Amino acid sequence: MRGIRITGWGIAVPDKVVTNADFAARLDTSDEWIVERTGIRERHIGGTTSGLAIEAGQAALRRAGRSPEEIDNLVLATTTPDAMVPGTAPSVQHGMGMRGGAFDLNAACSGFVYGLITAAGLIAVGSGPVLLIGSETLSRITDMDDRKIAVIVADGAGAVVVEPVDGPGSLLSWNLNADGSLKHLLKCEHGGTLFMDGKEVFRRAVRVVVESAERAMADAGVGPDDVSLMVPHQANLRIIQAACQRLHIPEERTAIVIDRYGNTSSASIPLALDDALENGRVAQGDTLLLTGFGGGMTWASAILRWDA
Ligand code: ACO
Repeated sequence: MRGIRITGWGIAVPDKVVTNADFAARLDTSDEWIVERTGIRERHIGGTTSGLAIEAGQAALRRAGRSPEEIDNLVLATTTPDAMVPGTAPSVQHGMGMRGGAFDLNAACSGFVYGLITAAGLIAVGSGPVLLIGSETLSRITDMDDRKIAVIVADGAGAVVVEPVDGPGSLLSWNLNADGSLKHLLKCEHGGTLFMDGKEVFRRAVRVVVESAERAMADAGVGPDDVSLMVPHQANLRIIQAACQRLHIPEERTAIVIDRYGNTSSASIPLALDDALENGRVAQGDTLLLTGFGGGMTWASAILRWDA
């Protein structure tokens, strides 16, 4: 049996920081409304999906002590590829000087967890180290004059190096879910801009996150008290708080970076994970719950026993 462990992590965000005050200066909104309803205070805007992915990927390789030639496959989770065709992953692969397989994966904001399970699957059938990156430039597909969505979305990337180990490894359980009958809730047509039924997404998000996190915990044989850290998709602080409450996981044991980074879709879980790791919030043997939801709708959870 071949399992996985995460040996490196890194992030990249554009230099430009847009604060709530910047939005309030040109749209009918306020810092108070945005903080109260979403938990977001500022976000980074700019860059390209491939450029941010390369930067985050390089940081993760450095941390893992791996050179680009040692990576067998690249999985790039993104909803905002540089182009329709070709995929963005080959550009990232080229930019980083890697060989092997490289492909995009679009599971909206669940993309990072979907990507992690895909990386584990590649490794189970014989792949060497896999570089998994979540990278987004949501501002490119958003009407930045529409207060309902402009204040939520953001740009950024996060990456992890996933390596094979003998035995079961770090991944204790996982589930991937989707329901295409809900595709109208969150969408962007070709050439269009993001549309979101915020209220309905909110309502359903809490329900599906709780359901899939509970299933992942049950499958791993762990309870809420065993979860050292929950690393949720960062869509809205109130969604995270509602999920914490229903899961009986205190907010103090949750990785929250939405105040600084906003909603970066596929990149939000690795941004939160990197922040927790860099701030010494994860110790060897800790149990981590990764959980995300997003357009599709898709939702996904994984339980990891940390072994870096
Ligand atoms: N500033 C001030 N007022 C605003 C703003 C704003 N930025 N945006 C909306 N409003 C107004 C609305 O127009 C509405 O006014 P009205 O009552 O006069 O019509 C009022 O505030 C309430 O609007 P709601 O939409 O009911 O506000 P809500 O509390 O639901 O918050 C939000 C909206 C933040 C979008 C929330 O619904 C949410 O976070 N939903 C989930 C988002 C999500 O998780 N998306 C998934 C991933 S996103 C992605 O993939 C890119």
